[in-house]
Amino acid sequence: MKTRIVRVDAQQPDPAVIEEAAAALREGKLVAFPTETVYGLGAHALDEAAVQKIFDAKERPATDPLIVHIAHVGQVIQCATAFPANARKLALAFWAGPLTLILPKKPSIPDLVTAGLPNVALRVPSHRVARALVETAGIPIAAPSANRFSRPSPTTAAHVKADLEGRIDLILDAGATDIGLESTIVDFSVDPPVVRRPGGLTFEQIHSLVPDVVLAAGQATALEAQLAPGQLTRHYAPRAVLTLYEGDPPDVVKQIGADVRTAVAGGLKVGILAPEDDLKALAPIIAATASAGRVEVRPYGSRSDVERGAREFFAALRDLDASGVAVIFASSPGTEGLALAIRDRLSRAADGRIKTVVQS
Ligand code: TXA
Ligand code: MG
Repeated sequence: MKTRIVRVDAQQPDPAVIEEAAAALREGKLVAFPTETVYGLGAHALDEAAVQKIFDAKERPATDPLIVHIAHVGQVIQCATAFPANARKLALAFWAGPLTLILPKKPSIPDLVTAGLPNVALRVPSHRVARALVETAGIPIAAPSANRFSRPSPTTAAHVKADLEGRIDLILDAGATDIGLESTIVDFSVDPPVVRRPGGLTFEQIHSLVPDVVLAAGQATALEAQLAPGQLTRHYAPRAVLTLYEGDPPDVVKQIGADVRTAVAGGLKVGILAPEDDLKALAPIIAATASAGRVEVRPYGSRSDVERGAREFFAALRDLDASGVAVIFASSPGTEGLALAIRDRLSRAADGRIKTVVQS
């Protein structure tokens, strides 16, 4: 299959391009498009054959359900059998935007979309291209992140192309996405509601409106696995072996510095993924070892600009991994605001390799 890539303005998308993409979706084709979080891979949510193509193109297991994108809050009742007051409150406050609500599903939503679960995940995206597309298509659009399964989420059309060229019909290229991390998923099929995936909308923002909301435990229990299957699988898995470092930044920097020396001495090519400030502190150590070309560094934002960190994070991870490093040492941005979502992605990529550094 030939994948067409069409440029579209992020602020004022050309209606002719949107109409063409909407028609492709209505016909059951796959269209990758930008949202404010990451690029999505869209298909007609009520057309099972179209939805199946998403799983095939991504090589995604059928046990991992998809988010359904709708044009406005009024369409919730077309997809869900209940819309609790607190879910409505969040929707009114944060839609269109990086919030996904899990609600009991209507029979019209195919089981394939929800991986057989009785609930459906719904979201109204705010990106102008995404909004124009769902409005013009006039159908709900199932869309996971437009990456190959277990690859980092795509924040540019080039990332989508790298993972899915030849497997999908169309990519709408509107440049880099604004937020850079996926939506926050809040599960209202349980009481109290649970944040299943931290994301572009912060836990603090949700908590301020719905004080009884809880954050899912880091380690998914069997029940959680059943309720949010995608969270169990090893997401964002880089080729390199990634270790996440946590603790006070100066202590973390010291430990990473020591571990870089050891790894390079052992003949390994090392990657460091960290906020700019940490990399600056590591510069002398990197200078001492980099002469052999054994250290690659990629910054994501800074300790004082976590929003930029979110925007840059996935691209930095992809790029570092592609540089051929054997190991990646990543420093945690913390757990406040958007940092919680970055830390979540890092801990998944680390697959359990988390080093908590304490001052000696
Ligand atoms: O920002 C985003 O949410 C992006 C853009 C494209 O909208 N989409 C996205 O989709 O990140 P995806 O498929 O990569 O991640 C969605 C996650 C899945 O891993 C799955 O665990 C969860 O949402 N999910 C979807 N439907 C669910 C359901 N019915 N019950 C529980 N979890 C669900
Ligand atoms: Mg994904």
